[in-house]
Amino acid sequence: MKKIEVGLLGLGTVGSGVLQMIRNNEDKVANVTGSTLEVKKVLVKHPERHQDVQQTVKLTTEINDIVNDPDLQIVVELIGGIHPAKEYIETALRNHKNVVTANKDLIATYGPELVKLAHDNHCDLMYEASVAGGIPILRTITNSFSADKITEVKGIVNGTTNYILTQMGQRGWSYEQALTEAQKLGFAEADPTNDVTGKDAAYKMIILSQFAFGTQLGLNDFAVTGIDNLSAFDVHQASQFGYVIKLVGIARVIEDGVFVEVAPTLVPNDHPLATINNEYNAVMVTGQAVGDTLFYGPGAGGLPTANSVLSDITSVTKNLVLKTNGNFFNNYQRRYIPAPADE
Ligand code: HSE
Repeated sequence: MKKIEVGLLGLGTVGSGVLQMIRNNEDKVANVTGSTLEVKKVLVKHPERHQDVQQTVKLTTEINDIVNDPDLQIVVELIGGIHPAKEYIETALRNHKNVVTANKDLIATYGPELVKLAHDNHCDLMYEASVAGGIPILRTITNSFSADKITEVKGIVNGTTNYILTQMGQRGWSYEQALTEAQKLGFAEADPTNDVTGKDAAYKMIILSQFAFGTQLGLNDFAVTGIDNLSAFDVHQASQFGYVIKLVGIARVIEDGVFVEVAPTLVPNDHPLATINNEYNAVMVTGQAVGDTLFYGPGAGGLPTANSVLSDITSVTKNLVLKTNGNFFNNYQRRYIPAPADE
């Protein structure tokens, strides 16, 4: 059976989840893809902190060890942030490596440019895990809404803030206490500023709007408000009137374009989004024909996000096997290149 070798950039919460899943699901991956997967090298900052995996993978602190390794066919970027992740991915693509990433900051900011680079180098670039962790929402919008006209995408797309708001509402925890716990549980970004200020949710709404409406928005194109100024008192007051406060992202077709916003929102107790708690996310996609649909699942955390990364790795692997057999198949993120803004 063919073997596909993978290079992993980053061994944090999600990276460790990916390693664990590849090992635990070896047989299923082989059945689904027709090949075996082997993580050959992992880029880490501190190899001494990862002694547990040193027996089975080569740890390196040198990016060129991975992006210049001719045997590696897939590079999985899980270091996050825009730089140096962008440069690493660009080099990998130029070296004709397929790339899978969970990096919403990067894809929201440079997605179309990187998609074009992937296209020009006949590589796949996939990023299901960049939006809503374990919910396969990009695939769903691409595949299941391919004919229907989407009129609105809204939801809870940040697990950390939803966890914080849930704990403040249900346990009376302070904002600070809930944030500390979210960090311990591995939901928050390394620097949680983007989570609590709404920037992380905004990046995800940019990507969702791209998939739903073909827009290419920047962070300065719409209003973004976080939960960092909310107190347990605000949450309690809302509950007295029959509401919960949720950080909601919305992208809706309006007469002359698409309206997008991220803001703490009063959600009536009987609305489906009011029942989404802890680190869970939910994305409601409204289509002209189908009406309202709701997709729900863990929005953060190692294994749920790793599952989305693995779904991309297996798609790329299937494609590599097809290519070897003389066929060709475009994965969805490769096919989608948004039109320039002035068209
Ligand atoms: N920090 C992010 C969140 C992780 O809390 O949603 C998943 O993107």
